Amino acid sequence: MADQSLEGKVALITGASSGLGRAFAIHLARVGAKVFLVARREELLHAVVEEITRSGGDAAYHVADVRIAPSLFDLVDVLLSRFKRLDVLINNAGLGYRAPLLELKRSEIQEMLETDLHAAIYLCQAALNALLKSAPSDIVNICSYAALEGFAEQTVYCAAKSGLLGFSRALAQELKPANVRVTAICAGSTDTEFFDRFRPTLDPARRLAVEDAVRALLYVLTSPPNVLHGEIVIRPRVV
Ligand SMILES: NC(=O)c1ccc[n+]([C@@H]2O[C@H](COP(=O)([O-])OP(=O)(O)OC[C@H]3O[C@@H](n4cnc5c(N)ncnc54)[C@H](OP(=O)(O)O)[C@@H]3O)[C@@H](O)[C@H]2O)c1
Repeated sequence: MADQSLEGKVALITGASSGLGRAFAIHLARVGAKVFLVARREELLHAVVEEITRSGGDAAYHVADVRIAPSLFDLVDVLLSRFKRLDVLINNAGLGYRAPLLELKRSEIQEMLETDLHAAIYLCQAALNALLKSAPSDIVNICSYAALEGFAEQTVYCAAKSGLLGFSRALAQELKPANVRVTAICAGSTDTEFFDRFRPTLDPARRLAVEDAVRALLYVLTSPPNVLHGEIVIRPRVV
């Protein structure tokens, strides 16, 4: 079957103010998708939307903290009033703190679980009716290689991301009959602001580039709807 075109499709991307989410928004707009960007830092969202619209793309942003569940339902309403449909949901907002369990603050534990796991679950709920209506449609959850293995000093980050992977696997089965494809992208260290907070484990020069994750995302979204990916793992080659 031929590649699926993203022209005119509407994509909602959380955590689009920087890093992977910013790159996803710019590249999806480049291939003709209409993009709706969500994060907390308005000036950064504004700059990404300006960059996209200057190059002829269609983009809008919405400022929200994804840890506040009702705001996730509100932002879907705002998106639908602007774009009238939703074809692709990318749960990307996330963060990690790396420290031994005894040193993790309760606020850090809560922030990781609420941002990396709970928000994605609630946003899937909030967006599902729209995604069912526009099926074949896609949900992509940005997990991590930390979803697949246990790493010392990453206990809660691993818990949040493996929780998100388990959620994605089960939701993929649940939504298969409705033609909503659910994919988890499990990326290794990628060069973004993520490491401003997360004590790095890998020399920056060896990290993946955001474009590597963009390639994986476009591969998923342009695959014909009968092709299921389940999970895609990308990692830097470390020897
Ligand atoms: N970089 C890596 O090595 C790597 C590897 C695997 C997976 N990941 C995952 O990839 C995703 C994107 O991370 P990144 O590497 O691109 O890092 P990043 O540049 O720090 O981006 C994180 C994004 O999440 C948003 N965000 C965080 N908390 C939020 C909240 N409460 N409400 C709304 N938005 C929030 C941030 O926006 P605001 O601060 O403006 O709200 C920002 O846009 C994360 O889920 C991360 O766990 C990263």
